[in-house]
Amino acid sequence: MNINVNSARLNHSEFETDVLAGLSRPQKTLSPRWLYDQAGSHLFELITTLPEYYVTRTEVKILAKVSSEFAAEIGPGATIVEYGAGAAIKVRFLLDALATPYEYIAIDISREHLGEAVKSIAADYPEITARPVAGDFLTRPPDLDLSPAGPKVGFFPGSTIGNLSDGEIRGFLTGVRGQLGADSYLVLGADLRKSADILIPAYDDAAGVTARFNKNILVRINRELDGTFNLDDFSHQAIWSEEKSRVEMHLAASGDQVFFVAGRQFFMNAGETIHTENSRKFGRQELHDLAGVSGWDMVRYATDDRGYFAVMLLKGR
Ligand code: TRP
Repeated sequence: MNINVNSARLNHSEFETDVLAGLSRPQKTLSPRWLYDQAGSHLFELITTLPEYYVTRTEVKILAKVSSEFAAEIGPGATIVEYGAGAAIKVRFLLDALATPYEYIAIDISREHLGEAVKSIAADYPEITARPVAGDFLTRPPDLDLSPAGPKVGFFPGSTIGNLSDGEIRGFLTGVRGQLGADSYLVLGADLRKSADILIPAYDDAAGVTARFNKNILVRINRELDGTFNLDDFSHQAIWSEEKSRVEMHLAASGDQVFFVAGRQFFMNAGETIHTENSRKFGRQELHDLAGVSGWDMVRYATDDRGYFAVMLLKGR
């Protein structure tokens, strides 16, 4: 073993600890937060353009329709805080509609993402201060040092709340409310319950992009944690659970497996799965209640004509 390998291990120690713990459980799990390395982020961008993946297209349509109404409610001089900025595309609808927005703050775990998001907003909106804040807003909300003047608006699109557990959702919503203060706003996206005939293809597309995205976590483990996964021995599965109202993503072993990660040996039986992600689908009442117990009133609830997706405007109590 050489020094480079050791230092890579040190840098990835949180990744390593999390992966080893997840693979040691009776139902093996890998946390979805590790899906988004550079290759994973690129594959996810591709997913958002797939014909089967209605989510992004539908949300964008709703945002285009409701942004001026939301902006009128929010008023001038706003500070917009985007949680998990990604490419900072959707927030433009809000920035375009708001009267003289003051500042845009992007929070993301990935520093690369942040740099690009903030640069592109700064270039296209020279009158707005754009500021990156690196941090994990789910577990350790970073200090934002917000200006006392003007309304504060959180932005959390993409139904990322659907990837969180109930407790995590409440923790996040309560944390944002605490961070942005009373009378602040949160623009929140959420995917709604619908037929499995529409949901399953959205998470298991014909071109196999979602399968590549899901398997990319094994590629990353092989590269960063000395993993020995054989990718051909695993297949992507998207399963609709009516009971839990969620699409579950798994990687299923096609035969009995022996593999190593960071020097530790693991076994799997044929058909056994590694659970990688949940994408929960909500109803209106549920969203209303989750907001309510977390310090928010739902002041607007907008959907598309088919009722596939909801974009909400919450106001802090
Ligand atoms: N937030 C996205 C969603 O739930 C994430 C996502 C889309 C995803 N497709 C996926 C996560 C496939 C894992 C695997 O819709």
